[in-house]
Amino acid sequence: MATVQMKVSPEDLSHVPPARERIPEPGIMVIFGASGDLTKRKLLPALFHLKQSGLLPDNFAIVGVARRPLGDEFAADMRQGILEYGGADASDAKLNEFSKHISYYALSFDDGPGYAGLKAELDRIAQEKGIGDDRLFYLATAPEYFAPIIENLGAQGMAQPEKGRVGVVIEKPFGHDLDSARELNQQVNAVFHENQVFRIDHYLGKETVQNILVFRFANGIFEPIWNRNYIDHVQITAAETLGVEGRGPFYEKAGALRDVVQNHMMELLSFVAMEPPSSFESESVRREKVKVWRAIPPLPVNDAVRGQYGPGVVEGQKVIGYRDEERVDPESGTETFAALRLGIENWRWAGVPFFLRAGKRLKKRATEISIQFKQPPLLIFNQVLKGGTCQEIQPNLLTIRIQPDEGIALRFGAKVPTTPEMSVCPVNMDFDYAAAFGKSSANGYERLLLDAMLGDQTLFAHRDGVETTWALYTPILEAWATKNPEVFPNYFAGTWGPDCADRLLERSGHVWRNDLGR
Ligand code: BG6
Repeated sequence: MATVQMKVSPEDLSHVPPARERIPEPGIMVIFGASGDLTKRKLLPALFHLKQSGLLPDNFAIVGVARRPLGDEFAADMRQGILEYGGADASDAKLNEFSKHISYYALSFDDGPGYAGLKAELDRIAQEKGIGDDRLFYLATAPEYFAPIIENLGAQGMAQPEKGRVGVVIEKPFGHDLDSARELNQQVNAVFHENQVFRIDHYLGKETVQNILVFRFANGIFEPIWNRNYIDHVQITAAETLGVEGRGPFYEKAGALRDVVQNHMMELLSFVAMEPPSSFESESVRREKVKVWRAIPPLPVNDAVRGQYGPGVVEGQKVIGYRDEERVDPESGTETFAALRLGIENWRWAGVPFFLRAGKRLKKRATEISIQFKQPPLLIFNQVLKGGTCQEIQPNLLTIRIQPDEGIALRFGAKVPTTPEMSVCPVNMDFDYAAAFGKSSANGYERLLLDAMLGDQTLFAHRDGVETTWALYTPILEAWATKNPEVFPNYFAGTWGPDCADRLLERSGHVWRNDLGR
């Protein structure tokens, strides 16, 4: 398909505000579960980049907390993590400077009295470095520790101090069904006010996800056609080529629906479907998202299908099946693929199907949203020339590529030149993020960590939102739990998933769009 590239010139970027407008007050970030992978791979590299970009104050401290006595080993390990995952500009001098801000405190998360020692240590660091009373507690632990940590912080008066701003960042999974999410919310809100709570979903930190809102609400031409009158259906795909990457025990309990659909994909859906918020302020944005989720009627169980990968070939490499992965039950019934159809019962969307699918070990890594428009009311040109053969005219398609080739493309029909008849060929108008703005090295965590330090909750999940999305998926999870699928595995690694996913769309005369990416 022919493609027209769009570029922005450097002058267009002149309005970008100087970074210093968004620097948090001096404070301490305390990372619980600091010896885990997330801290090393994502959090510390993100904090390092923020510091290099001049977005952290001079006086700040990072205190890692975990059970093992690590001492100085911790800073050395984090330094290694920054080198490995943090990009090329991690020179020795920059790392040495950054390492001065890192320290470690050994504590068992359920050792209540031990938190008094942590509090004293934080006060000592604050005094020594001239840091104020702002604290951000980041829970990067296994989910069973969320409640004890929160309770112990509360018991030691660390959640509601007399001075300073205190927040708590909670990693996913936030609960594993509606009841557990409700219980966790109660435990959290018994100690922290909702405006102190940052439930993180790293998809919301992705530039391209935020750009959905900019695309819709900073441009006048799309909103008038963004509704049931013009849109035929919407597909959202989160396809991964990776398998479970040594996370077997976690994934066995999660599965694709809990791992990415209930959270990341629902966030994408809300950005595509929500009404324009009255401002880009936390309350307005979050309220509109919840309204979308609440307008989704209960999902009939047969509108959701599941799959599990068997062995196959992914990107030219032979890979094993899910049941052969390390620490996975050889008869596992856990789904590594989920697809579903849902509707949004409001004036904008009534009757428009939304199809969601997510899976591991698929053919290609691509997270995309495609919005297929209706055909014109009367087709006066009835053929399309593609590869020399005639085909039906294709409807307009707007594709929002979240990753890895970030961009937006609009497909439309163009007259094929020099043919005597009016032959129509689909072409793409393509905006490519990297070509327009240069490749951004930021992972979602940078933006989200900064926002949490600044106390901005816009890009974090709210209590109501989490419970609403769990309420939607819990009946399906329960139905799936009572009945193991008869034939698992049901797709080969390196394909687009099981046949049942295709049949789900065929029922309404649709097909999955599989030519994802550029
Ligand atoms: C995580 C899931 O939340 O998101 C992983 O636990 C998944 O299983 C990952 O691989 C996908 O994130 P991204 O940013 O690579 O699309």
